Amino acid sequence: MKFKQLLGSALVASVLCSTTTYADITLRHALTGAELDLSFAKKGGDTEAFKEFMKTGKNPYNTDKEAIKEGESLYMTGCSGCHGHEAEGKLGPGLADDYWTYPRNETDQGLFELLFGGANGMMGPQYVNFNTDEMLRIMAWIRSIYNGNPKKAKWLK
Ligand code: HEC
Repeated sequence: MKFKQLLGSALVASVLCSTTTYADITLRHALTGAELDLSFAKKGGDTEAFKEFMKTGKNPYNTDKEAIKEGESLYMTGCSGCHGHEAEGKLGPGLADDYWTYPRNETDQGLFELLFGGANGMMGPQYVNFNTDEMLRIMAWIRSIYNGNPKKAKWLK
């Protein structure tokens, strides 16, 4: 019986690993550090840009004007109610300055992890509302309106 259980968990572990083998980075939940389960992702987000992000941990849309424009409109639908129309902060914290409750948000990987998996309270996991490609677009808009110290913009490095 014990052996069977052991075998079972080994199987589960190998299945979990195989779903993320195409990635060079490991995405972790902002609060728990647990590996994020991308099988929850909405359909349509597995684009070239997302694949590149999963290799480098950097958002290829940061310099893409079209993507940033679309990100702005997605942000207005899904985030502005809590974070303000200029990401100046409301119910949730401001996202345009250089103060982060979660310092990992200074990197694209950290910001994606927080969006996908959520944080405390009202900040629920965003995979419910947006696919992974849309999250990258929203992130690109957030970076585009950054008004903090340029030295702290780690995602540019
Ligand atoms: C229902 C309200 C609500 C919505 C909708 C919402 N957020 Fe949040 N958000 C919050 C709250 C509250 C926090 C603070 C959570 C914490 O400190 O753990 C937060 C935290 C964050 C943080 C961490 C900020 C820091 O200082 O580290 C980021 C980044 C963020 N939200 C981005 C977004 C984006 C982008 C969207 C839309 C895709 C979004 N949020 C949608 C309420 C919301």
